[in-house]
Amino acid sequence: MDKLKMQTPDLTDKNIEQIAQLFPNVITETKDEKGNVKKVVDFPQLKQVLSKNLVENDNERYRLDWPGKKASLLKANTPITKTLRPCREESVNFDATENIYIEGDNFEVLKILQESYLDKVKMIYIDPPYNTGNDFIYKDNFTKSKEEYEEELGANDEEGGRLFRNTDSNGRFHSDWLSMMYERLVVARDLLKDDGVIFISIDDGEVTSLRKLCDEIFGENNFIAQLVMYSNPRGRQSSNFFPETHEYVLTYSKNISTFKLKGLELTNEQKKEYSYIDEAGNYREIGLRLRGGRATATESPTLHFPVYYNKNTDTLSVSPIEDGIEIIPKFSDGTLGTWRWSKKKIMLSLNELKVRLVNSSDGRKYDVFQKDYLTENKRRKPKSLWMEKEINYDRSKDDLRVIGLNKVFDYSKPSYLIKKIALLSTNKSDIVLDFFAGSATTAHAVMQLNAEDNGNRKFIMVQLPKLCDDKSEAFKAGYKTIADIGKERIRRTGKKIVKENADKLKKRVSPLDIGFRVYKTDETNMKDVFYHPNELKQDQLSFLESNIKEDRAPEDLLTQIILDLGLELSLPIETKKMQNNTVHVVQTNALVACFDNNIDFKIVDIISDLKPLKVVFKDASFKDDKDRINVEERFKRLSPETKVTVI
Ligand SMILES: C[S@@+](CC[C@H](N)C(=O)[O-])C[C@H]1O[C@@H](n2cnc3c(N)ncnc32)[C@H](O)[C@@H]1O
Repeated sequence: MDKLKMQTPDLTDKNIEQIAQLFPNVITETKDEKGNVKKVVDFPQLKQVLSKNLVENDNERYRLDWPGKKASLLKANTPITKTLRPCREESVNFDATENIYIEGDNFEVLKILQESYLDKVKMIYIDPPYNTGNDFIYKDNFTKSKEEYEEELGANDEEGGRLFRNTDSNGRFHSDWLSMMYERLVVARDLLKDDGVIFISIDDGEVTSLRKLCDEIFGENNFIAQLVMYSNPRGRQSSNFFPETHEYVLTYSKNISTFKLKGLELTNEQKKEYSYIDEAGNYREIGLRLRGGRATATESPTLHFPVYYNKNTDTLSVSPIEDGIEIIPKFSDGTLGTWRWSKKKIMLSLNELKVRLVNSSDGRKYDVFQKDYLTENKRRKPKSLWMEKEINYDRSKDDLRVIGLNKVFDYSKPSYLIKKIALLSTNKSDIVLDFFAGSATTAHAVMQLNAEDNGNRKFIMVQLPKLCDDKSEAFKAGYKTIADIGKERIRRTGKKIVKENADKLKKRVSPLDIGFRVYKTDETNMKDVFYHPNELKQDQLSFLESNIKEDRAPEDLLTQIILDLGLELSLPIETKKMQNNTVHVVQTNALVACFDNNIDFKIVDIISDLKPLKVVFKDASFKDDKDRINVEERFKRLSPETKVTVI
């Protein structure tokens, strides 16, 4: 029987696999310090393969560098043994919901989610600390104990604490922030679907370096936009020169060739432009002559040709016709121009074209127009400057005020902004991730959008349980941590959305999901012996009564197994009594787990009937190797597809 490894994947191994797929001949084998054979890259050979395009020295090249960058990348690739533990008491509708709220440092959480959410998240929105000189930056160090970790979450600006105030007197002011972002974005990118996209809020302070950083992580060619938010019409009061009225949202796709941006519904103002009407409906005119792009006849000769129009019969053609007036595409200064459509496209789409007289500098002339019809699915491309009043960041205060959370969180974004981002970039059942969740505006936006368009998008929020200052309004209102504020906001907003959309929601096939499962990061469930969990052998186990920590409940073990097997945290779980055993069934037959000490053939037979894909028992449940082999053999006979493993 195999043992589960109970640690996050080693991303270096994954990178080597990817290189192996591209260049199998550069992969070779060597032995590690324990004598195990492992795959390694033959660098001289790889150099050979890429010989024409190698940077030969380390000095001059175009890239963003800072002290600590290499260490950051190493950290991003190194596995950790931490896990998530479910917290039913703080969850809402734990069994039925598909939304997830995770308390913990997002770097650890992103690593923990690596297997389960690899290539599954459609949209990430983050609003990280902007590095204003007052932000708390988290030093990643996985060797601290739980007690030290908890203590430091409250330790605001103590020197040497894990959470430290990044002031510009810190010599590594930019480097520390960049390292923090780099590690997280490298890991987060893997979670995005191939057609996924990330949106990152930022201001003038770090926008330049963040853009360079993203160019490196996501690829310059995957840059989508640097959206400008007209967020503060009054301007930032602390500014000495031009008070900033704007912020940015940097946008990168994972793969620009598969990413599609949705359009926005037309506003009433825009609908008025469709003022012409014919038998096919309302339309607006768009000149067929290329205007803005100014491609001249010399630059695009195939699109420069005359068309012919007979005004008596209202006939248009790209070939000469009887009584046809020649129309040539020209710019207003007389330069020969081009059409937007080819000859073929024009002839195939004649019913979408119209010719009429227009005023020009040399008299009235015929010109050709495309009839752009107003259809129900008509959408407009969103522009890069977002100026609507709902973008004003004061609106975020209103979002919190109307649910009685006035002044408990200062840096929230308006839910309108994130809802618009989600509308443009997600389909109705996609997963949305925010790993700097703050007051959980992203969860609010996802629930609101689902209520409006009948969607089933699911959210994953990640927030550090950072202690609220004891003088803060939040603390006075009874919220110990920022995570407590976020969870309460989801509870209150969910109820409000259901109340306000009662009629609409009656028409839904499935109820609007306003629940969420809460998980918290913690040390592994496995005992901290000096063995790696995945290297424990049966003879070593005899030193230990159980390899599982005493304070861990079956649901803790189940969660770690779900993550280890790469299953999503949102899958439905049923806990059943079968014979005298407690059996956990995850999504009908994706996984069945039983952590009881007394495993016998009767329960094996019952579990086999479910034909599960995976079955997990506790190692300590078996008396000896013989017992274990018997159970494995019985599964092979009764349910050959089932893979049986132990923890
Ligand atoms: C600017 S706020 C996000 C606000 C959010 N967009 C909203 O509308 O409420 C950034 C949040 O990230 C959290 N944060 C900072 N470092 C973190 C880390 N390492 N892991 C998880 N959360 C972190 C902070 O506690 C803060 O709540």
